[in-house]
Amino acid sequence: MTVTLETPSLDLLPDYAEALRQGWSADNVRGKAAADEELDRIAADPEGFVQSLDNSDGDGPPVLRLDGSYGPRLPSLRRWIWDNGFCGSIGLRWGPGGGPLPDWFPYGHIGYAVPPWRRGRGYATQGLKLLLPEARGRGLDHVELTTDAGNPSSQRVVIKNGGHLVAREVGGTLHGGAEILRWRIDL
Ligand SMILES: CC(C)(COP(=O)(O)OP(=O)(O)OC[C@H]1O[C@@H](n2cnc3c(N)ncnc32)[C@H](O)[C@@H]1OP(=O)(O)O)[C@@H](O)C(=O)NCCC(=O)NCCS
Repeated sequence: MTVTLETPSLDLLPDYAEALRQGWSADNVRGKAAADEELDRIAADPEGFVQSLDNSDGDGPPVLRLDGSYGPRLPSLRRWIWDNGFCGSIGLRWGPGGGPLPDWFPYGHIGYAVPPWRRGRGYATQGLKLLLPEARGRGLDHVELTTDAGNPSSQRVVIKNGGHLVAREVGGTLHGGAEILRWRIDL
């Protein structure tokens, strides 16, 4: 198994779009609605879609906050976990100017998702491992991640990458009010 992290490109886009068409979504919060939006954007402007996944300057329209207000878009980038085809998506976001994440952004620095038919083969673990040097290269000295308390496989992914638990939160608006765990990986 040779796993790489690929920068999204037009060459690789068809494999990614196929995963979306199979019903998978890179967005763990908005799910299918986000996948359908991405498919529309890919159909309308594939090059623009690919470029939008590398947004180190935080360009673009404001983002909807959990309290219903809008906030500025954070700098972010996405990478595709690849092993003889598309195996998952992993995203990094960070505070403007390399500073901490703002308080209103609750999801942490890194999010990932692997299509169901690719799970259980170490792709998320390997993808996170490969992304950490990139985070360090952008000046971060640690990353924060959140998982649902009921998501043991995601917790394993974080733990296997050196994550330690910093907080448990119950009853917040994040993840539909389920208990969430906050993790930190020192870089
Ligand atoms: C979480 C997710 C990314 C994991 O992807 P993956 O490629 O299958 O993960 P890996 O194969 O690298 O590792 C999964 C680990 O969880 C373990 N695991 C799986 N099911 C488990 C369970 N029910 N209880 C405990 N551990 C479990 C696996 O054994 C493996 O650990 P191991 O290598 O020590 O055996 C994937 O399930 C997913 O996309 N889920 C939906 C989106 C999501 O939850 N994203 C994370 C948001 S925080």
